[in-house]
Amino acid sequence: MHGTVAISGAKNACLPILAATLLSDDKSVIDNVPKLRDMSTMLKILRNFGAKVDQDQDVIKIEPNGYEGYKAPYELVSTMRASVCVLGPLVAKHGRAEVSFPGGCIIGPRPIDIHLKGLRALGVKIKIERGYIIADGTKMRGSHIYLGGHFGSSVLGTANIMMAATLTKGVTIIENAACEPEVADLAAFLMKMGAKIKGHGTPRVIIEGVKRLRGAKHSVIPDRIEAGTYALAAAITKGDITLKNAKLEHIIAFADKLTESGLSIKRVPNGLRVKYVKRLKPTDITTLPYPGFPTDMQAQCMSLMTVTGGISVITEKIYPERFIHISELSRMGADIILEGPSAIIKGVQSLSGAPVMASDLRASAALVLAGLVAKGRTEVHRLYHLDRGYENIVEKLQSLGAKVWREREK
Ligand code: EPU
Repeated sequence: MHGTVAISGAKNACLPILAATLLSDDKSVIDNVPKLRDMSTMLKILRNFGAKVDQDQDVIKIEPNGYEGYKAPYELVSTMRASVCVLGPLVAKHGRAEVSFPGGCIIGPRPIDIHLKGLRALGVKIKIERGYIIADGTKMRGSHIYLGGHFGSSVLGTANIMMAATLTKGVTIIENAACEPEVADLAAFLMKMGAKIKGHGTPRVIIEGVKRLRGAKHSVIPDRIEAGTYALAAAITKGDITLKNAKLEHIIAFADKLTESGLSIKRVPNGLRVKYVKRLKPTDITTLPYPGFPTDMQAQCMSLMTVTGGISVITEKIYPERFIHISELSRMGADIILEGPSAIIKGVQSLSGAPVMASDLRASAALVLAGLVAKGRTEVHRLYHLDRGYENIVEKLQSLGAKVWREREK
């Protein structure tokens, strides 16, 4: 595959930023918003609170002025876990929130104990009733919080507590904060709203509460996971793809591994050029919180490893059960053994196209990547997962030379 692809705005930065607009009564304008199902779900939640939402291409204007709602219902939250990040803004702005407990998902159990621990440390009283988190934030105050769990920091947990602390009297210090670029982008937006934040993008974030936040304009950072996925499309098809807007510093661990394996990844004006230059070597990957190797790139890397000669190993340290894609890749002829949280992948000569079932967002992308090089035709079913996180993926792949199209599920 050859050519240039424009990387869209980051889904995982945009979702908490949309939730953060609830912290003000004024209008906020967010641009570089990707057109994705998850974005529509978040906008439905905001409208459900009474916010006025106006969307024109990749620009969204949100006016929460006078909104009354404080309840995020199960029907909406169950379709997207990130809905839980309305909890912090609601409780800080209105002193109360009722948000459906998000539950687990196909990539494994996804608890929210870190979110709740952080909110409790800020003085929020929390009850779990009828599957809802019922939060009373009438007596909140700044606090010194250690925000870690079994698997290290939490991205949305940090986002939730950071948002809540912006309007909470006193100073809040978050230790072991998530350092992901999406969290730093949220902080950048909050600061444009008038929040006082220091240390964002590091494990120690300090927030001094203010009385009021104003509306703000913000352009969302490019999606590093989308960028990485198209970089892998170049690698797996022995191609040469320029990723417009992509930032090397956001995918540094991924670029390091792929470069070590033999792929060329170079900065070009306004993006990155990814080129297959020689036979790739097998490699080992361990997923970790940022700046470590992202779990959201694990499945897609596995697809590349299935056709890379030699033995590669992936150890999943964020979601040890995030391996549903193995059985589908195996249906295409991949040779993979799962040993606890590690997958051992023996590269095969070629994959063979087959009907496969997408189980989650990144697994779907992995199957599409595998389909790009598999002999014959690959049908990826349950595309709605893919539409949650990849804007215009079919059109983008086609423009790079892939034979791919969308058909209505029979
Ligand atoms: N965890 C806890 N308790 C909590 C929260 C998290 O034990 O209260 C655990 C999780 O089970 C996991 C680890 O901590 O083992 C990290 O989870 P984290 O909270 O960081 O995940 P998240 O914030 O819910 C975001 C992304 C995910 C991405 C993870 C990890 C969004 C909307 N989602 O989820 O993205 O995998 O961070 O980087 O930002 C995706 O885009 O496909 C996706 C799943």
